[in-house]
Formats: sequence, structure tokens, C-alpha cells
Amino acid sequence: MSKKIVLLPGDGIGPEIVAEAVKVLEVVDKKHKLGLKFEEELIGGSAIDVHGVPLASSTLEKCQAADAVLMGSVGGPKWDTLDSSIRPEKGLLKIRYEMGLFGNLRPAILYPQLADASSLKPELVAGLDILIVRELTGGIYFGEPRGIRLLDNGERQGYNTYVYAEHEIERIGRMAFEMAMKRNKKVCSVDKANVLEATVLWREVVQSLSREYPEVELSHMYVDNAAMQLVRQPKQFDVIVTGNMFGDILSDTAAMLTGSIGMLPSASLNKDKRGLYEPVHGSAPDIAGQGIANPLATILSAAMMLRYSLDQGEAADAIEAAVGKVLDDGYRSADIFSEGCTKVSTKEMGDAVVAAI
Ligand code: NAI
Ligand code: MG
Repeated sequence: MSKKIVLLPGDGIGPEIVAEAVKVLEVVDKKHKLGLKFEEELIGGSAIDVHGVPLASSTLEKCQAADAVLMGSVGGPKWDTLDSSIRPEKGLLKIRYEMGLFGNLRPAILYPQLADASSLKPELVAGLDILIVRELTGGIYFGEPRGIRLLDNGERQGYNTYVYAEHEIERIGRMAFEMAMKRNKKVCSVDKANVLEATVLWREVVQSLSREYPEVELSHMYVDNAAMQLVRQPKQFDVIVTGNMFGDILSDTAAMLTGSIGMLPSASLNKDKRGLYEPVHGSAPDIAGQGIANPLATILSAAMMLRYSLDQGEAADAIEAAVGKVLDDGYRSADIFSEGCTKVSTKEMGDAVVAAI
């Protein structure tokens, strides 16, 4: 049976890195007989140029009908002056929302070969492998009412609303517990229950859900402490589950512990495990078109796609092992280059991963 994958290369370095991921997927497809079928569509600035909107409804429909979506990145200076309603980033927010991608998985793994690249001391990060499960379609980023209003005294006031319904907390909590069952059976739920009522409910729901997962050790932490602990002793964590805004901030912190943003993949999943897979980084306009971007974050996102949406764990393992092998062999794109290694282009890095598979 064939599996339909929509490719959304997007803007900037997006097309360069997605091309390498496709090359890698094509060889694992042959080797593991996955029956992948690719269909390419526009998103972001390149979609604005052609359709006048960052995500055409025909593109969204194709994504909704596909088994998975692999994206590059959106945005760039060319579209920065556009009105905020049709900015490239709106296409991304729209696809996340319309596909119901409430669960954002962001692993932060330190490859031993890149230990020097971390901003923390080697002994603090050696062997680091944590997974942040961030709620992606709710919380303060989507809560109503929101806006800027005029007060009686003539002063303006900005306001947003932090809201989580029980079902939203439960489904992201469940995703975290399920992930923990496949890992080290440890979940830390991050909230601000000492100040925000919405997160008192968050803590309560996660706590009662934990009764269904007696093997998983659950802890709770306030977000300010979690931020501190992530840079103090990151290896105390395994799975972290948290709301949209806290997850946005903590996952960037965790990401940097591993060195380069060019190494970090992500998955955004809905209740049917259909998903959107993309590197954590943006469109890197400063290096776009030069053929020097690191394609590994996108290649690793493709591996997550095989694992989570297509149930092809073995093929995913093969890609991840190949990435380890090219790093062992000393291949480095410019962002992770260090003395004594072989500097390679985007395309050469993709070729090296293909060869390793
Ligand atoms: P960025 O992640 O694009 O770039 C930050 C820095 O990291 C740059 O110096 C860039 O050259 C470097 N970098 C990023 N990816 C790299 C890779 N694969 N290999 C080597 N170096 C890499 O973030 P920035 O500059 O804040 O945003 C640029 C554009 O990307 C903006 O329009 C922004 O809105 C958009 N963006 C899009 C995202 C997405 O599509 N999910 C996420 C973040 C930003
Ligand atoms: Mg962010």
C-alpha cells in the first residue's frame, strides 16, 4: 500500500534541505519497501508569490488527505513588510490549527560527536536525550479575548487569555505518558500552578491521568524552576510535558544544549497520528541559496515521520544510525564544523547520509 507524503519545501533554505531529506527517504523507501509517494506543494512566501496567500486551501486539503507532511521552513525579508494577516508564518499557524496538530514533539539529543558545540560543560550534557512534549494549538497563543484596547483613562492595554479545557490537557498529557512508556517512564509536567488558575487545572488533570500509567513516575515543576533546572542539570529530565507558551520557551532552551539548531527535528501530531514534520530552525535567509545549510535537522525530521506517522521504526532507526555514522566519519556542515573535520555542503551531507544507509 502506498503512503502519500506532501512536501512543503517553503522559503529560504527550505527547498535545499527538503531535497536532501527526499533523497534519503528515497533510499530507505527502496530498502524497506515503504511505498512512499511524494507530492510537492507551496507554503509561506513562495505560496504568497503564486497564490496570494501563504497556504492555499487546495494545499491544505492535500495535506489533510496525506499520511504525513514534511516541511522545510517559511519566511524571509522579501515578505517582512506584508500585512500580518498574509505573512508567511500565518501559513504555518493555519496548517497546525486546521490539521489539529496539538502535540509538538521536540527531542533534544546531544550527539557525542558534537559535544564541543554545546553551551554547557561536557559532563552536564554527555548522553543528553530528552523529549519536550509541547501543547501546540491552545493556551495563551490561541485564547480569546485578545488584543489591545482603550481604557477609560485613555491609556491602551494589551491583553491575552490563558485557557485550557480539560480535554486539551488530557490529550497532550496522554501523548506524553505514551511517549514515556516507550522511553524511561518518567514525565515532568511543567506549569505555574502557584500563580495561574489555568495551570492548577492542568496539574490536576495530568495528576489524575497518571493513574492510568502507574509505571510512569510523574513529577510537577513550576516553569521558572524548570528553566533553571534545564541549564543546571538537564539530564534529570526524560519527558517534559507543558503548555504552548512554556513549551515554546523551554524547547528552545533545551535545543541549545545540543549545540546547533541545524541538528534539531520536530514532529507535530494530531489525534490520528497524522503529522507535520519540520526542522526546528527557520528559513535562514542569511545563508539561503549558498548550498551550505545543514540538512540533518530535516533528515532527522523525516526519520520521525517514518516512526510516528508511518509506523516504520526500523527505517527511522536506519536514518538516525546513518546520521550518527556520517558524524563519526567527520563530515560537518559549516554550522557544526570544527578543526580536523571534513567540511561539506548541503548536498554532500545528504549524499553522505545516503551512502551510509
Ligand atoms: P533561523 O532559524 O532561520 O536562523 C537563525 C540562525 O541559524 C541563522 O544564522 C541561520 O543561518 C542559522 N541556521 C538556521 N538553520 C540552519 C541550518 N539548517 N544550517 C545552518 N545554519 C542554520 O531564524 P531567524 O533568522 O530568526 O528567522 C529567519 C526567517 O525564518 C524568519 O522569516 C522567521 O520568521 C522564519 N522562521 C520560520 C520558522 C519555521 O518555518 N518553522 C521557524 C523560525 C523562524
Ligand atoms: Mg519558538
